[in-house]
Amino acid sequence: MTTSFPMNAGDGLYSYSKNSHFQKEIIDGVKEMVRDAIIRKLDIKTILSSSNTLRITELGCSVGPNTFSSMQHIVEALKDKYLYQDQVIDSTKSILEFQIFFNDQVTNDFNTLFQSLPVDRSYYASGVPGSFYDRLFPSRSIHFLHSSCAINWFSKLPKELLDEKSPAWNKGRIHYVGASNVEIVNAYVAQFEKDMEMFFNARAEEIVPGGMMVLVTPFSGYVRLLGFFGSSLMDMVNEEKLDESLVDSFNLPLYYPSPQDMTKVVEKNGLFSIE
Ligand SMILES: C[S@@+](CC[C@H](N)C(=O)[O-])C[C@H]1O[C@@H](n2cnc3c(N)ncnc32)[C@H](O)[C@@H]1O
Repeated sequence: MTTSFPMNAGDGLYSYSKNSHFQKEIIDGVKEMVRDAIIRKLDIKTILSSSNTLRITELGCSVGPNTFSSMQHIVEALKDKYLYQDQVIDSTKSILEFQIFFNDQVTNDFNTLFQSLPVDRSYYASGVPGSFYDRLFPSRSIHFLHSSCAINWFSKLPKELLDEKSPAWNKGRIHYVGASNVEIVNAYVAQFEKDMEMFFNARAEEIVPGGMMVLVTPFSGYVRLLGFFGSSLMDMVNEEKLDESLVDSFNLPLYYPSPQDMTKVVEKNGLFSIE
């Protein structure tokens, strides 16, 4: 069983759709790299075989608008790659069609997501509810996968962080940032490694041979922010505005992998190669 941590629904003042600028910057920041990977590394002819439909999925899409921006960018890069593959513009090539599967936890606000789908989109949209730590698609059905600011969310929080008797009890903090106790960091790392193993095993069944997966995760900026949130809460405890047990019982189920962490889990799993 995985726990779900949906973003705020709707499009009100505190909704995710009005409060996801940080994630937007991340998506915008990697756009050129994503396009470059598609153009240089993806062999569309081989993965398409007899069909004209490219099946794409966005894992952890939330409610937009970021997901639409990522998907539009990817569809355009794939179209360009298809038309210009082999360095010749081939006007005889048949029209490529795109089917996009927007995935998130069942508790995500899919209604808002679908209501705000861009009217001028050039793809067929579907929703796929469920945790990406489990299987989501039939075998060998997905050509391209994208996920941004999502795989850094755990399937569940390591229990030992809340256990007063454990050396990994995370007293007075809400995250591993700033923890002097190595057991706390280890508990987070171990959960990340377990989750990624499940993630890769499921995706290896679902992605066609030769397909591509783009995983984007935030790193240093976010980590600093979480340190500030934690110390603000402890300031409130010290000013007797908040009960310390509340801080002790709250831990963010988030890990920010370094490039080295990602390389390690991909290589240990062994089912994918890094481009
Ligand atoms: C910070 S939002 C990112 C949304 C969007 N990709 C973006 O960049 O703006 C993280 C999303 O990942 C989803 N998520 C986290 N864990 C998930 C899981 N195990 N399976 C599916 N979605 C998950 C959350 O529900 C949330 O909607």
